[in-house]
Amino acid sequence: MEQFKRFKDEITRFLMMYKFALDSLETKIEILKEEFHFLHDYNPIEHTKSRLKSPESILNKMYRKGCDISFPSIRSNIKDIAGLRITCSFVSDIYRIADMLRIQSDLTIVETKDYIRNPKPNGYQSLHLIVEVPVYMSDRQEQVCVEVQIRTIAMDFWASLEHKIFYKYNESVPPGLLRELKEAADSAAALDKQMERLHNEVLEIKENRMENAPPGGSKRIIIRDQEYPIPAAFLQLIDGVQGNE
Ligand code: GTP
Ligand code: MG
Repeated sequence: MEQFKRFKDEITRFLMMYKFALDSLETKIEILKEEFHFLHDYNPIEHTKSRLKSPESILNKMYRKGCDISFPSIRSNIKDIAGLRITCSFVSDIYRIADMLRIQSDLTIVETKDYIRNPKPNGYQSLHLIVEVPVYMSDRQEQVCVEVQIRTIAMDFWASLEHKIFYKYNESVPPGLLRELKEAADSAAALDKQMERLHNEVLEIKENRMENAPPGGSKRIIIRDQEYPIPAAFLQLIDGVQGNE
């Protein structure tokens, strides 16, 4: 009984490390999202979803891969114990977010799989990164792997339904259905292209409007969806800066 309790505590502590890594990465994404929204006036991230692999599916994967069962072996063989899925608005946002993660000095991208430039034969598209995140605990610091999947809404829509269909057909999908799934993936990619083009056209119109707007513009700022008037002293400061230019 004592041994079982010790083992249970060890598993809990092991998984906690991955949970902390996920929490820390989610906070980073939240910061990037809010800052990006402020700078560019639109939200590149539609939503994020995180998950921890259950002890059962960790063991199943270890048996499937024929690995010996120990904590160090699990750490080095399974890189997707912690998973974060980021759903973006446009394809360009995917690479933008990946670059923003890449330049963070405490993160290390240890693997990149670009299934957007090189889709899987079934049509699956997404950008996969394995990111090493530092986790600071009471007595030590660990580098913990998190699998990050970044995709558009259209890619996510396709992947979710393809996953369901595979389960329904017990992994032996009839050839006609495979072809149709691939066609659906191509349609999703075409939709992504079209939406990105529309988005860029609107951006251009907005920029032209800004250039033609009267000086002075809005005297209010928006932080976290709250609108505040700018105090007169700040406006004088801005006038001073502009006057010095
Ligand atoms: P796993 O052993 O499943 O982790 O595969 P892998 O190590 O070859 O990694 P890969 O980066 O190819 O895929 C990891 C994850 O991406 C999977 O667990 C799925 O969540 C997702 N994925 C990959 N291929 C597909 C696919 O064809 N369809 C769907 N729906 N999801 C996929
Ligand atoms: Mg996986």
